[in-house]
Amino acid sequence: MAGVQFADVRKSFGQFPVIKGVNIDIADGEFVILVGPSGCGKSTLLRMLAGLENISGGEIKIGGRVVNTLPPKDRDIAMVFQNYALYPHMTVEQNMGFSLMLNKAPKAESEKRVKYAAGILGLDKLLDRYPRQLSGGQRQRVAMGRAIVRDPEVFLFDEPLSNLDAKLRVAMRAEIKELHQRLKTTTVYVTHDQIEAMTMADKIVVMHDGVVEQVGTPLELYDRPANLFVGGFIGSPAMNMIRGRLDPENPTSFRASDGTALPVSNPPAAAMGRDLVYGLRPEYISLDADGLPGEIVVIEPTGYETHLTLKLGGSDVSCVFRERVSARPGETLRIAIDASHVHLFDAETGRRLTD
Ligand SMILES: Nc1ncnc2c1ncn2[C@@H]1O[C@H](COP(=O)(O)OP(=O)(O)O)[C@@H](O)[C@H]1O
Ligand SMILES: [Mg+2]
Repeated sequence: MAGVQFADVRKSFGQFPVIKGVNIDIADGEFVILVGPSGCGKSTLLRMLAGLENISGGEIKIGGRVVNTLPPKDRDIAMVFQNYALYPHMTVEQNMGFSLMLNKAPKAESEKRVKYAAGILGLDKLLDRYPRQLSGGQRQRVAMGRAIVRDPEVFLFDEPLSNLDAKLRVAMRAEIKELHQRLKTTTVYVTHDQIEAMTMADKIVVMHDGVVEQVGTPLELYDRPANLFVGGFIGSPAMNMIRGRLDPENPTSFRASDGTALPVSNPPAAAMGRDLVYGLRPEYISLDADGLPGEIVVIEPTGYETHLTLKLGGSDVSCVFRERVSARPGETLRIAIDASHVHLFDAETGRRLTD
């Protein structure tokens, strides 16, 4: 097994820089997810690691060895793509064994590895089928099987679940995570879906516009987003962001632009006298008969919880309640805010100011 390091990695297409100096340290056996909006450079970074794209600057190491100019086949990696790229005229068994055949592995060894991967993935009974005779989830498993038989140092996944329906995605998420727990192979996984990142990763790298915005465990990113971008990107429904300033007379009170006072528990000195964004996750708002009034804009019952949009501090604020709410749009609801979970960001730089 092997760790992976990116050191000041850069990539331009012509004059156009798309990766602008990326540093990431991936430990041996770690499951790391690169997440960010479409076009931020995730696939480019993964393709550079795989050797499918040359590197304009910096260094990429696999297992301590610089691989910048090493051809893909010598990097000991296996990649699973979004579109599976299975050979339609080959059976499951042939698809899975294809790379071993190319490498002229002995037949018995190849059969053993294919059997092993098929066993892990529950494909034992489908080895004679052709891709067209498989469901989307089964095809995805064959694509993973093809990677597993190679027993690589590093697995790379590029949006492997985006072609699956919502239910299957959830099931495959758990399967891939379980697979990693079993094989413990270093994994770099790319997705635009923050839920996938949160649920599967040991460590998440949030990317935006060719730079790394923050690296951390899922809950570190959720609880202490380094900036407005990460705060807004991680979490669903998204963090509420209300503009305003601390009250100079009373710093535990945040004045929204419309004058509404919102609570702050530990105002950092740096936040005083600055334009701020008050970041509040929807679940830290609760129903409270003595609380702040807000007009209900939309109510969305999910069964398990109630999602609700309120007019508060001049903004539309999303709330998530465990309770069911019988009020109607247009009516006023009273709520309390858990001030100990409020995030303050510098409105100008977007940087987090709270500890
Ligand atoms: N071969 C290419 N030539 C020119 N521009 C490219 C090429 N591949 C990707 N890009 C550009 O690089 C940026 C990052 O792309 P990509 O890595 O595919 O993003 P992501 O996977 O995060 O959606 C995008 O602006 C994209 O248009
Ligand atoms: Mg991509």
